[in-house]
Amino acid sequence: MHDEILETLISEEAIQNKIKELGKELSEEYKESFPLVIGVLKGALPFMADLIKRMDIHLEIDLMAVSSYGASTVSSGQVKIVKDLDTSLEGRDVIIVEDIIDSGLTLSYLVQLFKARKAKSVKIVTLLDKPTGRKIDITPDLAGFIVPDAFVVGYGLDYIEKYRNLPYIGVLKPEIYEKKE
Ligand code: PRP
Ligand code: MN
Ligand code: MG
Repeated sequence: MHDEILETLISEEAIQNKIKELGKELSEEYKESFPLVIGVLKGALPFMADLIKRMDIHLEIDLMAVSSYGASTVSSGQVKIVKDLDTSLEGRDVIIVEDIIDSGLTLSYLVQLFKARKAKSVKIVTLLDKPTGRKIDITPDLAGFIVPDAFVVGYGLDYIEKYRNLPYIGVLKPEIYEKKE
């Protein structure tokens, strides 16, 4: 598996150090408000699991699974709910946890949805931000790392469902995705 990675972009240690910082910041900001931390499946799973352990306050968690549909190159911005939340958002301070913002379509859909469901506040925490991919103007409230326009995998991010279990973020070798075309 590791020999399919061209280079390590962000090491396991760098990821974990950043998560400690993010956890500290969020703990300070949300210490009075019992936030609802919502992970976006599947990609956010490893980040969500590590981040909440670094948040030293009372919080509640929930999970949502979404998928974009339509041709991937000309995304309609339509997002389908695959698994919905169990929790009412009314009056809650919501923290959305994502592994990456690329086009921004997934998150802009979720922010709108959660506001329509009467959340008191909605903030976005993403481990990775790829600003060059943006199709919609959206900025995360907290981002761990800015990544270049490369095929990044690991720590939740997949290529056809593989590599989510890498403990680091790496760049996939071009021959891996080129031979699938
Ligand atoms: C990936 C990633 C983000 C989203 C970012 O999820 O985990 O959720 O795409 O892209 P966007 O900003 O262009 O919307 P994906 O839809 O691949 O599902 P997954 O998390 O199950 O891999
Ligand atoms: Mn995702
Ligand atoms: Mg994916």
